[in-house]
Amino acid sequence: MPLVTTKEMFRKAYEGGYAIGAFNVNNMEIVQAITEAAQLEQAPVILQVSAGARKYAKHVYLTKLVEAAVLDTDVPIALHLDHGDGFEICKDCIDGGFTSVMIDGSKLSFEENIAVTRKVVEYAHERGVMVEGELGKLAGIEDAVNVSEADAQFTNPAEVEEFVTRTGVDSLAIAIGTSHGAYKFKPGQKPQLRFDILQEVSERLPGFPIVLHGASSVIQADVETVNRFGGKMPDAIGIPEEMLRHAAEMAVCKINIDSDLRLAMTAAIRQHMAEHPDHFDPRQYLTPARDHIRELVRHKMHDVLGCSGKA
Ligand code: G3H
Ligand code: 13P
Ligand code: ZN
Repeated sequence: MPLVTTKEMFRKAYEGGYAIGAFNVNNMEIVQAITEAAQLEQAPVILQVSAGARKYAKHVYLTKLVEAAVLDTDVPIALHLDHGDGFEICKDCIDGGFTSVMIDGSKLSFEENIAVTRKVVEYAHERGVMVEGELGKLAGIEDAVNVSEADAQFTNPAEVEEFVTRTGVDSLAIAIGTSHGAYKFKPGQKPQLRFDILQEVSERLPGFPIVLHGASSVIQADVETVNRFGGKMPDAIGIPEEMLRHAAEMAVCKINIDSDLRLAMTAAIRQHMAEHPDHFDPRQYLTPARDHIRELVRHKMHDVLGCSGKA
């Protein structure tokens, strides 16, 4: 089937109490690992491309890789721009074949965020493309505990109806205590998320798809593998998978995962290179790396997001 938008995926996910995985792609092995997992799990999937990925691999290489994955599978695949920081990059991706874009105006004032998001929505909707907006800034929950004004980092539920109505966005990323990268909480700190904010947002926006960024769990076995084979990663704490499962049962329809894939790839490559110091053909270490990412994505789909069998 051709590339799809996220509209139907989100409607079914909302009703079914599960979430679609949105995984970042940067090269062929990552595209293949994710889409092979989706095929094996019969799961819908979102492949997302950041500005950094476009710079690294070039837009055309990534869209052609995704085109190949679409031909090679029969599950719904959406191609999404991750964290578009202005109208131009969103326009480029809409014109360049993406079926969904994120306009991340979260660093702007409320009014500026509405203005740029509205502009992207008008351009996208005329062309059948879906738009994700963001309200609130991702931050560690420790900031809220230690810094008095830090509540401003979390999404303010009182603002969401006005934001969604005035912009016309199709989904909304909110900040409830997740953050990007492998170091989401301080060593020894217990991960917490503001499910009360998610609950209030979903009551104010019934049936509306919510997005969770910064949702890697930072698989400890992979951190240990990295460190066993020459890496030096400090203690890294991610979002417990049972919390993601809970969010997926609530209004969260899209869960963004990148760091876990990076870690899986690095762990597999480090292990392979340590165990086979004579190898120099990249296919020898990229094969176990791709396999390891594929199995991680299958686990996320099947055991965490609940989207297996929903293609
Ligand atoms: O949200 C950020 C994603 O993990 C993408 O990261 O900008 O380094 O490609 P990147
Ligand atoms: P992680 O760094 O937790 O994987 O988050 C990825 C993300 O939110 C991409 O937009
Ligand atoms: Zn993100």
